[in-house]
Amino acid sequence: MTTSLQCSFVGLGAMGHAMAGHIANKLSSLQYPPLLAFNRTQARAKDLKKTHPVQVATSLEQVASSSDIIFSCLLNDGAVSETIDAMFPHLKSGTILIEQSTISPALAQSYAKKAKEVGVTYLACPVMGPPSKAVSGDLTVLMAGGNTEVRAKVMPLLIPVIGKKVIELGQDDVAESLRLKLCGNFFITSVVEMVAEGMTLGEASGVGQDKVKELLDAVFPNTLLGIYADRMLNNTYKDQIAFPITTAKKDVAHILQLAKDSGAKLPITEIFSENADKVLSDHGNYDLTSVVGNLREKAGLDFDLKKKN
Ligand SMILES: NC(=O)c1ccc[n+]([C@@H]2O[C@H](COP(=O)([O-])OP(=O)(O)OC[C@H]3O[C@@H](n4cnc5c(N)ncnc54)[C@H](OP(=O)(O)O)[C@@H]3O)[C@@H](O)[C@H]2O)c1
Repeated sequence: MTTSLQCSFVGLGAMGHAMAGHIANKLSSLQYPPLLAFNRTQARAKDLKKTHPVQVATSLEQVASSSDIIFSCLLNDGAVSETIDAMFPHLKSGTILIEQSTISPALAQSYAKKAKEVGVTYLACPVMGPPSKAVSGDLTVLMAGGNTEVRAKVMPLLIPVIGKKVIELGQDDVAESLRLKLCGNFFITSVVEMVAEGMTLGEASGVGQDKVKELLDAVFPNTLLGIYADRMLNNTYKDQIAFPITTAKKDVAHILQLAKDSGAKLPITEIFSENADKVLSDHGNYDLTSVVGNLREKAGLDFDLKKKN
């Protein structure tokens, strides 16, 4: 199938670089025009071009004025606002924005409203899964906004491209997918807190965190429990940062706001947040599994535990 439909991807960070690469390959296989790739730091777009069929865009105006579908995956609310505001005056009527960052539900709603006023469709499609799953094309996509026709157009560019599973939510309220994403990150941060507490209990009580990890692998095989326990056991949270504490804190702020707005109580998130703050202030911006170090210190142990021979 040959088409003149022009797609772009904005935001080529740890997640976006891999997602854009998969989409570029898909477009190429469909004989669409090459993906226009844009990143605030242009070197990252040039880097993507070395391995994938993309054209490097040099400005957001170029992206906005020439695209029919624009994907974005950016750091936070501020980055999304700056980027969409810069594109907004140049967007063509009929353009589809597929925003994939983890941002506040309210911000997504406000841009969806503004977009509708100028004939642009805004879909909120945040993703679940770490950068390694973005690389393997195994993310879970949460989709809200866009009517049936729009979804039929964009779905083949997302599934099975950046992920194998989509969870479809309402067409009228784009905030639904972001609320679900925040529920998802509630589980991630809570599981990290739980594993950190259990690993600390095992070590402090003399059982040994290596035995706690062995038990987790036996009782809960092939789950995040074992993955997080492994990072804690081997102290890899300082040099292999899959999910930085600052990004987790950004998500925690959205989670706590959502809880406040909806009257839910989240004591585990409050505790995780305190532990994360302490690691940030006393040690650095490591992977979120480093909260275990704070719990170890509270138990009279070292932040990093020496491995047993
Ligand atoms: N990492 C994960 O495990 C994970 C998993 C699921 C979802 N997410 C979400 O996915 C999004 C991207 O995460 P990531 O891990 O890819 O982050 P990242 O590696 O830090 O990349 C952030 C991207 O945002 C851009 N950016 C930052 N501030 C900007 C600004 N003010 N204006 C324009 N662009 C700006 C960066 O551009 P520069 O290159 O110029 O800095 C970069 O392209 C976040 O919302 C995150 O919460 C992350």
